Amino acid sequence: MKATIFFILLTVLARSRGQYHYQGLMNYLENRMLAMEERISLWHEQNNRYNSDLKEFRQQAADLLEKLGKEHNKLHLDMEGAGARVDRVEREMDYIETKNPPKPCMKAADKMVEQDVVVRERKKEEFFELSVCVNIVSSLKAMKILKRLGSPKGVWTKDARSAKVYAFNGTSDNTLYEFNSVRALSASSGVSKGRQITVSIAWNGTGHAVYDGFLYYVSESSELQVIKYDLKNGSVADSAVFPMDDRSPVYQLNPETLVDLVADEDGLWALYPAGDTINLAKMDIDSLDIEQMWDTACPRNNAEAAFIVCGTVYVVYNTKPPSRSRVQCVFDVNDMVSSGEAPLIYFPRRYGAHSSLKYNSEERQLYAWDDGYQILYKLALKKKLWAIMPPPEE
Ligand SMILES: *[C@@H]1O[C@H](CO)[C@@H](O)[C@H](O)[C@H]1NC(C)=O
Ligand SMILES: *[C@@H]1O[C@H](CO)[C@@H](O)[C@H](O)[C@H]1NC(C)=O
Ligand SMILES: *[C@@H]1O[C@H](CO)[C@@H](O)[C@H](O)[C@H]1NC(C)=O
Repeated sequence: MKATIFFILLTVLARSRGQYHYQGLMNYLENRMLAMEERISLWHEQNNRYNSDLKEFRQQAADLLEKLGKEHNKLHLDMEGAGARVDRVEREMDYIETKNPPKPCMKAADKMVEQDVVVRERKKEEFFELSVCVNIVSSLKAMKILKRLGSPKGVWTKDARSAKVYAFNGTSDNTLYEFNSVRALSASSGVSKGRQITVSIAWNGTGHAVYDGFLYYVSESSELQVIKYDLKNGSVADSAVFPMDDRSPVYQLNPETLVDLVADEDGLWALYPAGDTINLAKMDIDSLDIEQMWDTACPRNNAEAAFIVCGTVYVVYNTKPPSRSRVQCVFDVNDMVSSGEAPLIYFPRRYGAHSSLKYNSEERQLYAWDDGYQILYKLALKKKLWAIMPPPEE
């Protein structure tokens, strides 16, 4: 196109000048034109090459994008699949937990304090039995103050099996009161409005536990006794002497309680003092035999109460005079909860101090007695870290 315009221009120029100059100019211009055409064709060629390169690059980019898109989709699907699997496993675990309440299992032979008790051989399956119960406390979800009944110290607790509620006014007596529900207790005008139960051997402290129609309590006379009392027909089902030399309290801030009993689907536990620390014993819920003992290494000093969730002991500390109660020491019988994993749990500020904290596994809440107030603390639980990762090698 450019060449054509140039040629016309040349023709016009040629006619206006003399023939003489014509040939020389013509040669000169022709040479220039050839050079230009050459450059144009070179440019065309380059342009074509560039175009085809660009096309190729576009194609490659499109392929790459398509592949990336596909991989992204696949990743997304994989993640959704994994999420669904985790959900399903959690649901299955919840189901298994409701169907088979977890059984006790022991571990940590090195932690055992060997005394003249029957120490059972640890079986391999025991690890897997406990793995069903995999919760640790993550936070305090809610709190409810129900009522103020009775004296500053006492116990109230609910039988996780029978759903009946029991109140123990004070720290030593031979009577307790039974209510059909928490509502019945909060609607009553006093502790003594419940059904009165009188036990033949008096109870001491705040270490009582009620589970599946049985009351487990400590009686201090010449000997320290653990008593199993049948609440259905009002009789002592069994009793055992608790092997403890010195009579110091398990929690320094509650001097009336020497031994704290916990009964749950894992069986019967006893928290008791040993030197400056708190020890834990696992007892047979039927025979009251002591099966195994651990030193939790949790100090008794400034301890106020403790509770057990899925084989993990949470010791609650306070100060004298009382300030905020907090979980400051955690001990797991399976050695599976690292100290960093269990968060420090602070209780809301109250005027008094807890004389007892009784955990109900069905409701996941604590029945607390604080300066005569009956309080419920709802706990948020999460899975133990090892439960969502492969179990460690034996
Ligand atoms: C609860 O204990 C306090 C102090 O020991 C006592 O004054 C009160 O009468 C008791 N209440 C009931 C209902 O037993
Ligand atoms: C245990 O309780 C009984 C009955 O209330 C009481 O007589 C006894 O003094 C208490 N023992 C201790 C060591 O407090
Ligand atoms: C109470 O019930 C248990 C089992 O149901 C039975 O073994 C025991 O003998 C009964 N005790 C009395 C005093 O009725």
